[in-house]
Amino acid sequence: MRKSKLDQCQNIEDLRKAARRRAHKMVFDYIDGGADDEKTLAGNSSAFDKYSLLFRVLTGVDEVDTSITLLGQKMDQPFFCSPSAGNRLFHTEGERAVAKAAAAAGVVYCLSTLSSVSMEEIAALTTGPKWFQLYVWKDRGLVKEMLDRARAAGYRALILTVDLPIAGNRERDPRNGFTIPPHYGPRQTFEALKAPFWTLDYLTGAPIKYANLSADTPAVSLADFVAEQLHAGFNWRDAEWLLGEWNGPAVIKGVVRDDDARQAAALGFNAVMISNHGGRQLDHSPAPIDVLEEIVQAVGDKVEIILDGGVRRGTDILKALSLGATAVSFARPYLYGLAGGGEPGVKRALTIMAEAVRRDMALMGVRSLEEIDASFIRLIP
Ligand code: GLV
Repeated sequence: MRKSKLDQCQNIEDLRKAARRRAHKMVFDYIDGGADDEKTLAGNSSAFDKYSLLFRVLTGVDEVDTSITLLGQKMDQPFFCSPSAGNRLFHTEGERAVAKAAAAAGVVYCLSTLSSVSMEEIAALTTGPKWFQLYVWKDRGLVKEMLDRARAAGYRALILTVDLPIAGNRERDPRNGFTIPPHYGPRQTFEALKAPFWTLDYLTGAPIKYANLSADTPAVSLADFVAEQLHAGFNWRDAEWLLGEWNGPAVIKGVVRDDDARQAAALGFNAVMISNHGGRQLDHSPAPIDVLEEIVQAVGDKVEIILDGGVRRGTDILKALSLGATAVSFARPYLYGLAGGGEPGVKRALTIMAEAVRRDMALMGVRSLEEIDASFIRLIP
């Protein structure tokens, strides 16, 4: 999509529509969809509506500072880019576009194990802060090799994803005949003709691969990959082994219970990412905003808390911070931008969020994010 058109996108929903217009239906649905009846997918966002923000007046908001400190590093914004797999499918620029846009916005970029650009190439591309997300293989040798490579390439923190022991039931994908790499039967070909920009870009670019894996590992669908390669038996003892091997800042991603958060903190994780994988795993798991307070109460004095899920507005971010989160993260907002228009689309998503945070802080009467506390939020009865 042309830059001027992207600039007309006023919010994340506009970028979602841009992604729907440009991308092949099966690709848009892979980004947009969730598990089973998509109750958790919808609930992650709608749960924010139950909270209102009690703004303060006459505080003098001519200067507003949106920065935070996350795992000891200063970030320009209280949000960052969650990991997401196979970005080449959405746009040829893939993860390169997201890493560059994140660096320009001064926020962390989390690269997925299943990225379509290698961790070394992304590391060399920008000087922005980067974390590496890990799925856990059956083969511990491969895990160690990934950790060594991530450390050598300068990824500062490790994110261990724990809510995907097996793949969730995402019904849009088989219904669309979606596979990785995409297969073109009559229906997919028909849909490809309706998405000419995506199709041209996809068919003329390099074939998709999982660039962190060996060249002879084919890019397959997430469900097949997880079933074949990942270790569904991975448990807390294995997590302890992993922390010892990494021996650096570590984040656990995919926790919704206070007892799990306590266990993670006791084991030595530095941050807990409250997440249900964007509603793509267990349907009817709670919205992260609804379990944030109890997890903050349980471990907020020991670890940093990141809310991941459903964030679409600046007010969502400020609600999470009011309830005690250090930061929030999201993937769909920037993926809609990527699928809608490559790097300018990702930049537009991050700009929309950054402008919203600044505006909403001023409207709340808050000059610095350190001023935010529970007095600013109320659950609507
Ligand atoms: C990958 O993690 C996905 O949810 O598709």
